[in-house]
Amino acid sequence: MRKINIAILGATGAVGEEFLRLLAERRFPYASIKLLASPRSAGRQVKVGEEVYTVEAVSHDSFKGVDVAFFSAGGDVSLEYAPAAVRAGAVVIDNTSAYRLDPEVPLVVPEVNAEDIAKHKGIIANPNCSTIIMVVALSPLHQAAGIKRVVVSTYQAVSGAGIEAIDELNEQVKAHLEGREITARVLPFASAAKHYQIAFNVIPHIDVFQELDYTKEEWKMVKETQKILHVPDMKVTATTVRVPVYRSHSESINIEFEREMTPELAREVLGKAPGVVVMDDPANMVYPMPLDASGKDPVYVGRIRKDDTVPYGLNIWVVGDQIRKGAALNGLQIAEYMLAANLL
Ligand code: A2P
Repeated sequence: MRKINIAILGATGAVGEEFLRLLAERRFPYASIKLLASPRSAGRQVKVGEEVYTVEAVSHDSFKGVDVAFFSAGGDVSLEYAPAAVRAGAVVIDNTSAYRLDPEVPLVVPEVNAEDIAKHKGIIANPNCSTIIMVVALSPLHQAAGIKRVVVSTYQAVSGAGIEAIDELNEQVKAHLEGREITARVLPFASAAKHYQIAFNVIPHIDVFQELDYTKEEWKMVKETQKILHVPDMKVTATTVRVPVYRSHSESINIEFEREMTPELAREVLGKAPGVVVMDDPANMVYPMPLDASGKDPVYVGRIRKDDTVPYGLNIWVVGDQIRKGAALNGLQIAEYMLAANLL
């Protein structure tokens, strides 16, 4: 397989660091790596495998000779630099929401719609982390029995809100145990008008409120799922919630099908699905939890049971590492697919 030149914009962030770990772990065939971030991080030394690289401040000229650029430095940074990267001849795999709903940009989860990759015009979007984890489980079930309606509630880890949110959870737990006053500065999100305690609490608010009082995160789950599954009018409704868990998102998903879908059939279908591990044995208290999924590649599915309030209903519980499969791993898998299919 040919070796390619890659750039990682946002190399010092949580997703960027996971990319670097995965590059070494998966022996990704790169010839060179360029680590890009803001001027704050320029000059920082970072180890990838056995090699040490120096982080550079991104500029419009950073992408000469780059074959694939992974972007995870925020939507505004993608909007600013992706066109320059594409002009320089790079394929951008963008982990932000900047281009996800652009009809010209494929939105891809390789286990679900890898065939969309070939339609790209320079940019390929990586979906939202909660969406990726959900569609890996939904897609094989949809193929088997046609999904009519999905109702999802998420239990999202603080690492999804960045390193500051992890620090805040730690600090609040410590303050509580030491009998000090608890302060909140980061969640639901840093620029919000108010902040709420996450330690010993849950916050039903991720990202800003939009139409119908749904949050932007909730709309992402709706619209991105419709786009990835190629069913623009699929009925999907979501409630997204931050919980005091460090890593891995969990999702309670209620699905109504067009045709019969028993728990037995769902176990069989999911058992054969790429990227899915069924972890479902109630008698032995086996079901996935965030601590099981963290640092792992698959999406885990358990608590598979009938919802007999509708003709063909099913409840499932899905857990996945949102930094791995929900972000960095999915992006790398897109590049791996392109290499294998001679699309690079
Ligand atoms: P830096 O560390 O220099 O601020 P996270 O999502 O974990 O907060 O990480 C965000 C990533 O995006 C970091 O690598 C951060 O770099 C990078 N980043 C943020 N703003 C910019 C910017 N304006 N230009 C380039 N990189 C940026």
